[in-house]
Amino acid sequence: MQIVAANLKTNHTRNTVQSYLGAVESYIDKNEIAARSVVFPPMSALCQSREKITIGAQNAYAAENGSFTGEIGTEQLEEFAIKTLLIGHSERRHIFGENLELVKRKFDFFSLLDYEIFFCVGEPIEIKEAGFEVVMTYIEKQLDGIDLGYSRLVLAYEPVWAIGTGKTATTADITEVHNAIKEIADKPLLYGGSVKVENAAEIMSLPNVDGVLVGTTSWLSERYCQLLDAANGINK
Ligand code: PGA
Repeated sequence: MQIVAANLKTNHTRNTVQSYLGAVESYIDKNEIAARSVVFPPMSALCQSREKITIGAQNAYAAENGSFTGEIGTEQLEEFAIKTLLIGHSERRHIFGENLELVKRKFDFFSLLDYEIFFCVGEPIEIKEAGFEVVMTYIEKQLDGIDLGYSRLVLAYEPVWAIGTGKTATTADITEVHNAIKEIADKPLLYGGSVKVENAAEIMSLPNVDGVLVGTTSWLSERYCQLLDAANGINK
């Protein structure tokens, strides 16, 4: 079953997330969608998962609670029974300066608590331009010290240069990197980076692609439903 994950980033409000989820839920029911739906709303709109939609948090700090201004910990996640978390997204790494050590600390903390972790890796443009070997060395470094045998781990390959730019990686790029990552870690592996309604089915049909992690295209519920639909037709 393909996973179609929506990263709403800093978009939507409590109200609009509720209508978004309502629209997606009824679409899933009416269209017998077989793909797994996971939605990461902004922090202020966190809520309980629905029967067929898993709600995850885009970020959390490695603590139950405490003096960590601007962050949330497990106490806040537990209020909504949230047990799914995005770690290592490139915006956290590059805009908010999360380094390898902090990302690993979060992974260790939340994996011990049995959270489902969507762990993102991906290279910036200058690494991509240096060639495949350099790309894989970069990704291996991002995975260094991460327990790749963790049972609730989902990996996402998200090249930084493809995120929010409209420039999707080519199917050849995706295939090359996904094949190599699968050799290192036999875990569900999503692709993310400018996935669109027009290219989602093609990407999800590739071997070693187990779904997509989508930003921009997922922000309108209608488009997100079209992505679910694209996943529905794929039998791998
Ligand atoms: P995008 O974002 O679909 O807007 O490129 C993907 C992501 O950041 O997960």
